[in-house]
Amino acid sequence: MRYLSPAMTQNTQTIDVFSPYRLGPLHLPNRTVMAPMTRNRAGPGDVPGPLNVTYYVQRAAAGLIVTEGTQVSPQGQGYARTPGIYDAAQVAGWKQVTQAVHAAAGRIFLQLWHVGRISHPSVQPNGGIPVAPSALQPAGQIMTAQGLQPFVTPHALETAEVVGVVEEFRRGAANAKLAGFDGVELHGANGYLVDQFLKDKTNRRTDRYGGSALNRARFLIEVTEAIAGEWGADRVGVRLAPTNPFNDIADSNPAATFAVAVNELNRLGLGYLHIVEPLPSDPIAAGEKPDIRFFRRIWGGTLMGNKGYDLERANAALRDGIVDLVSFASLFLANPDLPERFRRGAALNAPDRPTFYAGGEKGYVDYPALGG
Ligand SMILES: Cc1cc2nc3c(=O)[nH]c(=O)nc-3n(C[C@H](O)[C@H](O)[C@H](O)COP(=O)(O)O)c2cc1C
Repeated sequence: MRYLSPAMTQNTQTIDVFSPYRLGPLHLPNRTVMAPMTRNRAGPGDVPGPLNVTYYVQRAAAGLIVTEGTQVSPQGQGYARTPGIYDAAQVAGWKQVTQAVHAAAGRIFLQLWHVGRISHPSVQPNGGIPVAPSALQPAGQIMTAQGLQPFVTPHALETAEVVGVVEEFRRGAANAKLAGFDGVELHGANGYLVDQFLKDKTNRRTDRYGGSALNRARFLIEVTEAIAGEWGADRVGVRLAPTNPFNDIADSNPAATFAVAVNELNRLGLGYLHIVEPLPSDPIAAGEKPDIRFFRRIWGGTLMGNKGYDLERANAALRDGIVDLVSFASLFLANPDLPERFRRGAALNAPDRPTFYAGGEKGYVDYPALGG
């Protein structure tokens, strides 16, 4: 055990990745969060199976695990073998995961996902076309079971249909509760459906879900309220990515748009806000760069930072009070015992990119922990 001199014990205010954190009703033993990561390894019927149980249990020492994006409906799916949370078999599969993570003394939130237009008829029910706020075909191609295919022009949701999608999120949240999760995170980032509504490159609607920033934030707020109605707001996190251009998305003034959205979210008393932070290479057409300090200023609750953090940068951001929690994606993917490696200052395994989004055990459950 480390000897604490009186000066050091007085200095217990220094916050770092090893400091515990009270997240609403949850006690997190450290501030090293596992970021959500799609791994395309669900079983038949998009049901989590034993391989997925092993993967998450290996990472149970995280302060909090956020699962891979999990579709709330068949229409919300964009890629092969991503798990769902809309039927009884999927709930039962996830229950095996949550029970095993809890038995290993971990905590786990489910990430609720609808991809909107980032999909393809090959993964849509009856080979149908995906839905979106507006009928705008994304640039580029999507990976399908038959290889890369061009995106298609999506169906613009009718106003009345939007209510049905909000209901899908509500049911997904209710199912996550049945599956024994500790809470849920809404995937509002990275060019998927919630982000498609928020940003004006993908939302050209003229009804109450389009036009002003407040109207474009309406879908996010209605979905978040529906989820919080199932869980209680303090067990709900929201993930946003103000400037990430991934999936052909942009906003003409992200700082202005996200200031409005966060102002609305502030009223809900949520567990946390999770930001995929801007990179210097992200294009910003107009307005202030909405970096993590911007969100610290405008957000009234727990703030989780993400993107490109290592131990040193995470500790600096926590110490300076810029964030309360830090999430790590690729480092957690490759290092199941990441908190212990941080504690010991141990070397890190390198992530193997070819096995990120497909395959079986290799590159999934075979990254070694310290000591073998
Ligand atoms: C393999 C992989 C899958 C990902 N899947 C998701 C996902 O399902 N949901 C999500 O919000 N972000 C997803 N991301 C983005 C990460 O959560 C994170 O924002 C990004 O990798 C930057 O964090 P890092 O620098 O710690 O890796 C994924 C990233 C990777 C590498």
